[in-house]
Amino acid sequence: METTKSHFDTSYNNHVDQLIDMNDDIATALAQAVGSPDVASFVRQGNQQAHIMFEAGLQNGDSLYDFACGSGRTAAALKRNGWTGQYIGVDVVPALVDALKSACEGYEAHVHKDLTIKAEDSSLDMICAWSIFTHLTPIESYIYLRDGWRTLRPDGLIVMSFLEYQQENHWAVFDQNVKRRMTEAQAPLDAFTARSDIEAWGARIGYDIATYIDGYDDAATPDGHIGQSVAILRRK
Ligand SMILES: C[S@@+](CC[C@H](N)C(=O)[O-])C[C@H]1O[C@@H](n2cnc3c(N)ncnc32)[C@H](O)[C@@H]1O
Repeated sequence: METTKSHFDTSYNNHVDQLIDMNDDIATALAQAVGSPDVASFVRQGNQQAHIMFEAGLQNGDSLYDFACGSGRTAAALKRNGWTGQYIGVDVVPALVDALKSACEGYEAHVHKDLTIKAEDSSLDMICAWSIFTHLTPIESYIYLRDGWRTLRPDGLIVMSFLEYQQENHWAVFDQNVKRRMTEAQAPLDAFTARSDIEAWGARIGYDIATYIDGYDDAATPDGHIGQSVAILRRK
């Protein structure tokens, strides 16, 4: 049992408190809390995430776990695009979980801070992990992927976005971090992951890589490229 707060719990709760204090408009604060500059991008990026999940195989009636659901960017987009199924979202920030629950009636969402996937064995068809492995250490990512394997049905999928050095435009995030780290010791972590790391973890845990989507592939969604790279892992 951990006795101190995890870095992601402290940094994300502080980050969201600051955004709520700084913004007169709560909708803008909730969009910025998940990395969208404004409400219009929150809606567009949510639609892009939903599109990729539908293309990956998400069906009506499926059980979906939204790991690090934030303020409901993905959840609201799934509803808007007519998906019906069992949705479970988790996040470490209570204000974001509350916002999701008020925006998406009937969706289950919880504050969950443990290094586990909060679901029964072999109960899920898909886990989506949008912009969360980008905020974890490699060891934490591995622990969540390993527990994800327990909770997915055979052939179940993980749709995860990540930052990588091979995508030229991801270097802007790296450079921002270099600058920010000079002045802030407690900012949320931005982590880069190599495809070879995902493949090595997958081989050890029991996932095949179904596909990758380049972050700057303009054909990835009807609204163009998604920014972060995406890996789709299939549980063996
Ligand atoms: C960049 S946001 C992305 C949110 C959401 N997936 C989306 O795409 O809209 C990252 C989210 O991860 C949450 N988070 C960070 N560490 C977490 C953890 N270990 N477990 C669950 N949520 C976490 C943060 O509170 C934040 O809402």
